[in-house]
Amino acid sequence: WPAHAPEIDAILRLKQQRDAVVLAHNYMTPEIFHGVSDIRGDSLALAREAAKSEAAVLVVAGVHFMAETAKLVNPDKTVLIPDRRAGCSLAESITAADVRALRAAHPGVPVVTYVNTSAAVKAESDICCTSGNSVRIVESLGVPRVIMLPDRFLADYVARRTAVEIIPWPGQCEVHERFTEEDIHTMRRAVPGVAVVAHPECPRDVLEAADHVGSTAGMIDWLKRERPASVFLVTECSMSDNVAAEMPETRFVRPCTLCPHMKRITLTGIRRALETLSPSVDLDAETAARARVPVERMLAVR
Ligand code: 13P
Ligand code: SF4
Repeated sequence: WPAHAPEIDAILRLKQQRDAVVLAHNYMTPEIFHGVSDIRGDSLALAREAAKSEAAVLVVAGVHFMAETAKLVNPDKTVLIPDRRAGCSLAESITAADVRALRAAHPGVPVVTYVNTSAAVKAESDICCTSGNSVRIVESLGVPRVIMLPDRFLADYVARRTAVEIIPWPGQCEVHERFTEEDIHTMRRAVPGVAVVAHPECPRDVLEAADHVGSTAGMIDWLKRERPASVFLVTECSMSDNVAAEMPETRFVRPCTLCPHMKRITLTGIRRALETLSPSVDLDAETAARARVPVERMLAVR
């Protein structure tokens, strides 16, 4: 990434000085993803790798809930988020009080919470899940009904793959909710033979029109296995840029949509975070202790 070489070199030096690693979500721009990150992946991989890391400082190149999750599994480490404003429409869609009200309305029904939520919401939950393990997590509980929040499209996707009854919450991702079934038909007409791979945060008709559905890491694994001549990744734009750099023989077609929250993370922000060791993620001890339990329960499910 020659245009960014001075900033990348500065970050590589700072990482050594600080004993830091950069964890990058698949939606980071290529100069971050390929240029400065040590650990790359979907939410599940980032949570797993954060739990294993021996570095003193973790810089999360992703959105705020991902940094909170890294802090929950590393309470004694410094966890940095280069821009605190990097939020998520799903995390914004529900509060801890909403979860308590849901529990009161459905006594005894366990709460399965997508990691795209605040620590306060996780603290009210029984177990977390990600898009990569959602069906497995729901079935691991061995119960006939679960509350699954906050993404209604992910809940609908899971409901169609399990006999467990799913009680959803009406949250949605502002990026994936915008894709339509018509986008897929238009693309298939324009690019005959194109493979269509979608994220489960998309609406049901989009998922039904796709060839494969998976978490961001699941989408990449499918692509590397199938190696189609052309592909439409129905998800955030930067993922196509990142995978395209590793698969020059595949044509990545658009449209895609940008996540404005993910795009708040820049090389400049990462460099500043390493220079100043801020902004750091600091959680109230009681909330953190309660929120850690559902995350660790999730990580224990194989
Ligand atoms: P993944 O866990 O599939 O990477 O999804 C995270 C996310 O924010 C998708 O919008
Ligand atoms: Fe949240 Fe959607 Fe952005 Fe992912 S893409 S961080 S779910 S708003």
